[in-house]
Amino acid sequence: MARKVSALVLVADDDAAHRLMLATLLEEWGYRVREADDGLKALEFVRETPVDLLVMDMRMPRMDGIESTRLIHQHNPAIPIIVLTAYSSIPSAVEALKSGAFDYLTKPVDFDALKLVIERALEHTRLKEENSALRQQIARLHTPEIVGGGGAMKRLLEMIALVAPSDATVLITGESGTGKGLIARAIHANSPRSGKSLVEVNCAAIPETLIESELFGHEKGAFTGADRQRQGRFSQADGGTLFLDEIGELPLPLQAKLLRVLQDGEIQRVGSDASLSVDVRIVAATNRNPEQMVADGKFRQDLFYRLNVVTVEAPPLRARPEDIPALAQHFLKHFAKKNRRSVKGITPQAMDLLLKYSWPGNVRELENVMERSVILNQGDYVTVEELPLVIRKEVGGAGGECAGLEASGSEMTLEDVERQVILKSLRETAGNKSETARRLGITRRTLQLKLKKYGQADPNDS
Ligand SMILES: Nc1ncnc2c1ncn2[C@@H]1O[C@H](COP(=O)(O)OP(=O)(O)OP(=O)(O)O)[C@@H](O)[C@H]1O
Ligand SMILES: [Mg+2]
Repeated sequence: MARKVSALVLVADDDAAHRLMLATLLEEWGYRVREADDGLKALEFVRETPVDLLVMDMRMPRMDGIESTRLIHQHNPAIPIIVLTAYSSIPSAVEALKSGAFDYLTKPVDFDALKLVIERALEHTRLKEENSALRQQIARLHTPEIVGGGGAMKRLLEMIALVAPSDATVLITGESGTGKGLIARAIHANSPRSGKSLVEVNCAAIPETLIESELFGHEKGAFTGADRQRQGRFSQADGGTLFLDEIGELPLPLQAKLLRVLQDGEIQRVGSDASLSVDVRIVAATNRNPEQMVADGKFRQDLFYRLNVVTVEAPPLRARPEDIPALAQHFLKHFAKKNRRSVKGITPQAMDLLLKYSWPGNVRELENVMERSVILNQGDYVTVEELPLVIRKEVGGAGGECAGLEASGSEMTLEDVERQVILKSLRETAGNKSETARRLGITRRTLQLKLKKYGQADPNDS
């Protein structure tokens, strides 16, 4: 048994020989065992001592199995009770189940079955405890910036609560504008490293030639222009968290170097042979599909495995429309305050459009739309008129989407129609660009160019 502290099992049976046999067996399996010779003694014992599991005979003097199961369960419903019963009295075993027993076995007891049912019961308790520990962690999770409480968001927060306390490397994936940066900050803020720095590096924003020195630092004179020694981001993040944003943009040679650093926990400044050890937790993010990049030979598989210890997926906004009202209100308030406007809310018609729109730019797009609406707004409420044309056109008058194409076709340019078809297809494929391109019979590159034209390309996707 690979249990750290073995579970404490109480065996309650009035038949001394049978009880001893069970106790010996359980000890052989690695459990700590105590014995009670009737139901009342079992109840008294459980009240005094934290027992992990009970194996109890059904028929005992003074207090039988059903009654003691009921009372023990009342005292502590978390203790699993396994009841042993003669074949002839299965109905009373069923009665015991109703009183809160975990399971029953018929006598003579099949040892393998007993072993299995005990393991299952203890595992059950462990999972329950883990679950409630997780719930407590979620309750303690401090994520003031993250708005939205729908199901997908709850699962995301659960994931953050689960991974934040550890040192595990986390890879955050998700489309552009879904909040990957926020998630990375929440992981750091809720980790034991929160007292130390969170250092962010956007791998897409640094020229290729400078990334190595940016990450690892350089010695004076390491290259032209290196007029003094410089600390890299890894060193700055020592003891804290390093957030490698847009990791998919990291050039292959640097992927190899990063992999080595992650394996060894040591860095070398550019121009130096000396190794410095660093204690850094890595959180990485990408809006690309990392598996696809590995398949295309653009991302090292070994680095992907290293980074992908835990994946956190930021769901696209169209997959969680339930969060749109709260997010829209949140941004409305924020921008009203910032621009000193007294906008009170959003009309139901405008909200309806916001709910139906596909949000290819995700939360960032919603944020921009709300800012613009606040600025354009003349009255107390944001109305349909203040929403961008793209939203009004895509959602359309009544039925919206492509169903409305013919109806509104006369007022639309060919480009509008094309745009609608592309966005609809994107929605149907949950944002999968390769699949969308395939369906529409265009190359991914063409799709990318068109999205860029609409201002909806991932800035780093090419
Ligand atoms: N759940 C949320 N609650 C409040 N604000 C959010 C939420 N999700 C995203 N945002 C806001 O939306 C904007 C985009 O988020 P963020 O920059 O984290 O996205 P991203 O996934 O990192 O995008 P990219 O891939 O383009 O870098 C930010 O201003 C962020 O504050
Ligand atoms: Mg980002």
